[in-house]
Amino acid sequence: MRYWSVNCQRRSIVLIGMMGAGKSSVGACLHRQTSLGLLDTDEIVASRFGMSIPQIFDRHGEEKFREAETEALRRVRGEERIIIVTGGGIVLREENVTILRKHAVIVWLDGDEETLFARASRKKNRPLLQTKNPRKVFSEILTTRRPLYAEAAHIRINTSVLTEEEVAVAILAKMTRINPKPKSLISAKAS
Ligand code: S3P
Repeated sequence: MRYWSVNCQRRSIVLIGMMGAGKSSVGACLHRQTSLGLLDTDEIVASRFGMSIPQIFDRHGEEKFREAETEALRRVRGEERIIIVTGGGIVLREENVTILRKHAVIVWLDGDEETLFARASRKKNRPLLQTKNPRKVFSEILTTRRPLYAEAAHIRINTSVLTEEEVAVAILAKMTRINPKPKSLISAKAS
């Protein structure tokens, strides 16, 4: 992960990570704990199409979904601090990462593969896993994406053995530790 110089405490928080990382639940906890506004790119895209994510993939294809995802990010303005929950594939487009890094501290919710897969397959609403061998597909996607998450993120949290509340607390603690003086600019190595 990169060296960086930002004032964390005055920036938005973006959650990235694989399906099953707990981005939506942790986003909801952060929203409760900080009272910051909450945006979820999957929800924005679903409401734009007026249908669920599986229906979008089925009727319009993945590429149209990805375009709508990027379009949702282009509309995010930097003035207001918010929490942004993203879909697992947000790191696939460089433009997405560039937009997010401009406005926010990027937090990668990671975990061990088995735990992530077990969580991701609990619900049947993930079109990329509706295949004959979802375990294998999951593993391939994770292998491709891990370097992209690592490159994009300022902070990584291993969520495997933490509750959603604990993850939210860990994020806020890391942000405070990295920048203990709210008004100063500091250089810190992301963990
Ligand atoms: C996707 C993850 C999903 C959703 C879509 C594509 C992905 O969001 O955006 O099904 O490419 O990993 P979650 O990460 O919230 O499951």
